[in-house]
Amino acid sequence: MEYTRSSDANIITEQYMDSILIEERLIDSVVADTSIEFLGEKFASPIMTPAFSHLGNYNGREHTGLEEYSIAAKECNILNFCGMMENDQFKKIADTGAKTVRIVKPYADNGKVKDQMQYAESVGAFGIGMDIDHIFGHEGLDVVVGEKMAEQTMDMLRSYVELTKLPFVVKGVLSVLDAVKCAEIGAKAIIISHHHGRLPYAVPPMMILPEIKDALKDTDVKIIVDCGIATGADVFKALALGADAAAVGRSMLPSLEKNGSEGVTEFIRYTANELRYIMSFTGFSKVDEINDSVLHYL
Ligand SMILES: Cc1cc2nc3c(=O)[nH]c(=O)nc-3n(C[C@H](O)[C@H](O)[C@H](O)COP(=O)(O)O)c2cc1C
Repeated sequence: MEYTRSSDANIITEQYMDSILIEERLIDSVVADTSIEFLGEKFASPIMTPAFSHLGNYNGREHTGLEEYSIAAKECNILNFCGMMENDQFKKIADTGAKTVRIVKPYADNGKVKDQMQYAESVGAFGIGMDIDHIFGHEGLDVVVGEKMAEQTMDMLRSYVELTKLPFVVKGVLSVLDAVKCAEIGAKAIIISHHHGRLPYAVPPMMILPEIKDALKDTDVKIIVDCGIATGADVFKALALGADAAAVGRSMLPSLEKNGSEGVTEFIRYTANELRYIMSFTGFSKVDEINDSVLHYL
């Protein structure tokens, strides 16, 4: 079905992000430090990789695109994510040594959900999680590459939290209601996301972020934002609005296709440098000092 108006949340999200402007605070400012502590680990920056799946071997390279960007995440010392895959593929990602959060699909086969989560823990994952925004499809429950998905209740999510000792991350939160439920079930982090526009007219993650941040202020749930994050300025705006970190996504694909892990390493470093530049320009020397007092809206 073709829509006659643009209900595309990717476009709406980009337009919203571009309407956020940044003021300068230069006097007494110093060169900023982009490092963060996240769920007990130190990382070089709050930029994270996306929970991707189904990336083949570009240009006949030895590793799949998923392994290539995981190698880059390790090289850059940032938190790595991956999505739908079988256990043997995850093992290869774990073997890169990147600290990786394994996002498992909401499979109808609940045994498969639990098996993938427990396997991830057994091979050294940093965290586990689920993309709850892949439950529903146009004809009812979603079917992803031939695999059926299922509704997820709070009890089911709580059972995943209790399954392993790893931090549990819920991906695809786009309301205060779901964010509060995530805190209640014991999730350690959420990813505010519309999964590159699955829901028509989905609210831009950065638009709803301040409300979610406020609702979670008395919890220790960490907030990551994704969708349309392509530059250090996008990451800065997410942090200023209350996120702890931001994940790049399709913006890293051209670098990945062209130069594999080296291309992604270069892209992540460039983006982190841009973040440091904007932090220095706005008088924030550390990531956790950044706030929305420097933001203006068109
Ligand atoms: C090729 C591709 C595969 C993806 N696979 C998954 C997946 O398996 N699990 C998941 O949670 N998200 C998956 N995503 C969604 C991304 O993690 C991310 O939420 C989305 O692309 C929005 O970010 P972006 O606008 O920066 O691309 C995938 C996205 C792409 C482009």
